[in-house]
Amino acid sequence: MRFHELQAVVTGGASGIGAATVALLRAEGARVLVLDRTAETACDVTDEDAVAHALSALHRIDVLVTCAGAALRKSVHEQDGAGWDHVFAVNVKGAFLAAKHALPKMPAGAAIVHVASVVAVTGFRQRAAYTASKGAMVALTRNMALDYAGQGIRVNCVCPGFVRTPFIQPILDDEARAARLAALHPLGRLGTPEDVAKSIAFLTSADAAWITGHALSVDGGLAAGHAMEI
Ligand SMILES: NC(=O)c1ccc[n+]([C@@H]2O[C@H](COP(=O)([O-])OP(=O)(O)OC[C@H]3O[C@@H](n4cnc5c(N)ncnc54)[C@H](O)[C@@H]3O)[C@@H](O)[C@H]2O)c1
Repeated sequence: MRFHELQAVVTGGASGIGAATVALLRAEGARVLVLDRTAETACDVTDEDAVAHALSALHRIDVLVTCAGAALRKSVHEQDGAGWDHVFAVNVKGAFLAAKHALPKMPAGAAIVHVASVVAVTGFRQRAAYTASKGAMVALTRNMALDYAGQGIRVNCVCPGFVRTPFIQPILDDEARAARLAALHPLGRLGTPEDVAKSIAFLTSADAAWITGHALSVDGGLAAGHAMEI
């Protein structure tokens, strides 16, 4: 019970990686508030008033996980500005706003994990706004780790490979595309939401008490390179 009587907040916690994280934190004793468009506490993480209101009920926050995410399949020349802004608003501004309104309630020993992506380090074709926004989340992680280390608050991020969630449903619906994507991962399979949730729980727990400013690859080896024999 690593999170016994601790209070956690998970954005994007209604589905996929976020939902698996909520389940794991609850199983280990945490009370968890979910901020998601689809949850009971309907909250758009791009709306500062909504985020501030949702967190106002909490007096103390020990764990924050920013998992709400958006992606578009576009290269730069075909990407319109509104779509670009939307991806950055959900991924980067959403993480910033949740952290901004959680931090005043976070005691020494508290921890934040931003959910970035392997594409922050490797790039991925036709995902210009998404890869750029995830790179920004890794940079934000390092900046926040430095700013809040003095208060004993740790800030890390995870960089997942491709995970079986509704986020990549069009690929999962096409067996050939899903198999090609799985084969890119040296461990030979797509991730499960639980694979990533376990890494998030580790980074937010006291087991990671001396880890801050780190971007942890949780990607079946994808960021390590190609595993095929040449
Ligand atoms: N699935 C993957 O392959 C993969 C890989 C790397 C990183 N990620 C990242 O993991 C995170 C979670 O994605 P997932 O795969 O679990 O997808 P998902 O679609 O299952 O969950 C995403 C959740 O974010 C919520 N959300 C989206 N916009 C929101 C907003 N404006 N306000 C509040 N909530 C909002 C959705 O309602 C949904 O519940 C995302 O940040 C995504 O970029 C996913």
